[in-house]
Amino acid sequence: MSLAWAIGISGGATFTLTHRAVFFFWRRNAGSLALRSGYGGKLAHPPMGQSSAPKKPVAQGAETGDSLLRKLAKGWNASRCWIRYLFAGVREGVPGLVQFVLGNEFFRASQVAGELTALGEILATLRPKCALEIGTLRGGTLLFLCRLASPQATIVSVDLPGGRFGGGYGSTRAWLYKRLALRRQQLQLLQGDSHSSEMLARVREILGAQELDYLFIDGDHKYEGVKRDFELYAPLVRKGGLIALHDIAEHPPTAGCEVSQFWNEIKGRYRHLEMIANRQQGWAGIGVLYVD
Ligand SMILES: C[S@@+](CC[C@H](N)C(=O)[O-])C[C@H]1O[C@@H](n2cnc3c(N)ncnc32)[C@H](O)[C@@H]1O
Repeated sequence: MSLAWAIGISGGATFTLTHRAVFFFWRRNAGSLALRSGYGGKLAHPPMGQSSAPKKPVAQGAETGDSLLRKLAKGWNASRCWIRYLFAGVREGVPGLVQFVLGNEFFRASQVAGELTALGEILATLRPKCALEIGTLRGGTLLFLCRLASPQATIVSVDLPGGRFGGGYGSTRAWLYKRLALRRQQLQLLQGDSHSSEMLARVREILGAQELDYLFIDGDHKYEGVKRDFELYAPLVRKGGLIALHDIAEHPPTAGCEVSQFWNEIKGRYRHLEMIANRQQGWAGIGVLYVD
């Protein structure tokens, strides 16, 4: 047996065992998170829309020892990521959770640390029982929401395969995202256009008689796109609930992000909070509207 195969087989066995152990512990422990207050604050992040690098084409029949090792390394990294996920925020509360969602490649959120921490503190108090997110992408803000929502929450996350400002996710990620939910949470991942009346009907059907405690709009960032999301889903939010919009900061025209235009139009109608770490950052920013 060659050395590469020996490494491959032992690596594969280690990966399988680690993977099983991680899921076992995760399923048992993910519900028992204690969150404390405190703000983080480093500014870190690549601008949105530049995040999903095109995948390299794989040469046909190139199942070489090299690619096997690469797969094993990927698997090992994913396992390490799950282990870190188990402990993210357990001791450090919201800042620890933020550090995790910004510091890992796989579930990385397209957010600024200080802003996400401030939103996290609000969510940790609200503990939404029913929440809708538009814009799943790499699952960063979804993971964040699952951890901060009520352990019995109904959570819906919508994304459009090939959509603007990201582009959705595949079946492996869908499988992993489903496992972000705590034991008694109901998580529904909907893939399709949030602007369509069919999507609104699907969301309504899932919610049934429940109203939303929290709506996070981070999908299509064009003026008409964000406006449509707001018009369709804001009426589903209960009095006392929250609507958060991402990317309310002024962006350079080349970014194609027009959320600030809509935000400036709508914010005066609500009690609101603007969380922008740095007015010159040229991206991100979270706006929160209180539905009174
Ligand atoms: C900026 S990303 C979301 C980032 C994510 N919330 C985070 O911070 O981890 C925007 C996502 O919205 C999705 N999107 C764009 N237009 C959409 C539409 N009309 N319906 C549903 N999803 C859409 C894109 O596919 C993309 O994945």
